[in-house]
Amino acid sequence: MTKEVVISVRNVQYKYPTSRDWVLRGINIDVYRGEFLGIVGATGAGKTTLCQCFNGLIPHYTQGTFEGAVLVEGRDTRETDVADLSMLVGLVFQDADAQLVMSSVLEEVMLGLTMRGMSTNEAKVRARQTLESLGISHLSNRPPYALSGGQKQRAAIAAVMAMHPDILVLDEATSELDSLTVHRIFDLCRRLNEAGATIILVSHEVELLCQYADRLALVDAGHILLEGSPRELFQQAELFHQVGMRLPQVTDLALSLTNQLQVKSLPLNVEETKAILAAS
Ligand SMILES: Nc1ncnc2c1ncn2[C@@H]1O[C@H](COP(=O)(O)OP(=O)(O)OP(=O)(O)O)[C@@H](O)[C@H]1O
Ligand SMILES: [Mg+2]
Repeated sequence: MTKEVVISVRNVQYKYPTSRDWVLRGINIDVYRGEFLGIVGATGAGKTTLCQCFNGLIPHYTQGTFEGAVLVEGRDTRETDVADLSMLVGLVFQDADAQLVMSSVLEEVMLGLTMRGMSTNEAKVRARQTLESLGISHLSNRPPYALSGGQKQRAAIAAVMAMHPDILVLDEATSELDSLTVHRIFDLCRRLNEAGATIILVSHEVELLCQYADRLALVDAGHILLEGSPRELFQQAELFHQVGMRLPQVTDLALSLTNQLQVKSLPLNVEETKAILAAS
């Protein structure tokens, strides 16, 4: 079966109005319909900047110098309104505060729907369903500014998810979130993915991300340094270490014991490591 490209990033270079050097330096990547793509990379590598190219915020809202092209479902982002792109690509910001503007979480989730012409009643029903599916119905009447970091993140996800975008880009602010919340968000992404959505998830949690993503892209200094399945990528442990990233501990352990163990395929989790140890 041929894979259908939903986002095609072609030779994209970008610098912010205030930056001296290119922040993105020739990014090329295709995102396929229905895949779960994880984006990893050290802080400052350019992940958030790249995400903003996916839905046209760059170059429409953030000025600067943009070269190359991003095609979303075949449409060039330079020639497409951000409002139209936002129907195709839902972006959850790393900084949820920047996204939350209304006086209650329910209104926040309804906002995008009513702006797209849905009636208030319909929007309310859809918003309530979405909040329930995220386990945050109890936050409906709370003002977003009074929420914790993790609650804000989930409210921001709800606002984007309610619009049922084909492509969901989540730029995760893991540092704000406890491990249970991080797992919840990853599980939610998996459920949406299983229901047909294309997921692009930026995270510093490589260990967890590789359990969820079909494919990882490692961004370093504005390049895609590596991309492939987690197992393929982790074969290049040296490169990961050079850019300041850690592999999952079990994968690192197996790599350091390849002389002693029979490692046919690198383990990504404890269960796979146990199987290797049992066979050796
Ligand atoms: N609005 C801005 N104006 C100028 N430079 C910026 C702006 N936003 C980001 N940068 C710079 O662009 C580079 C890439 O930043 P970006 O936020 O894309 O990194 P990141 O990979 O998302 O990092 P993190 O993991 O910390 O979220 C950094 O050097 C950063 O300082
Ligand atoms: Mg970022």
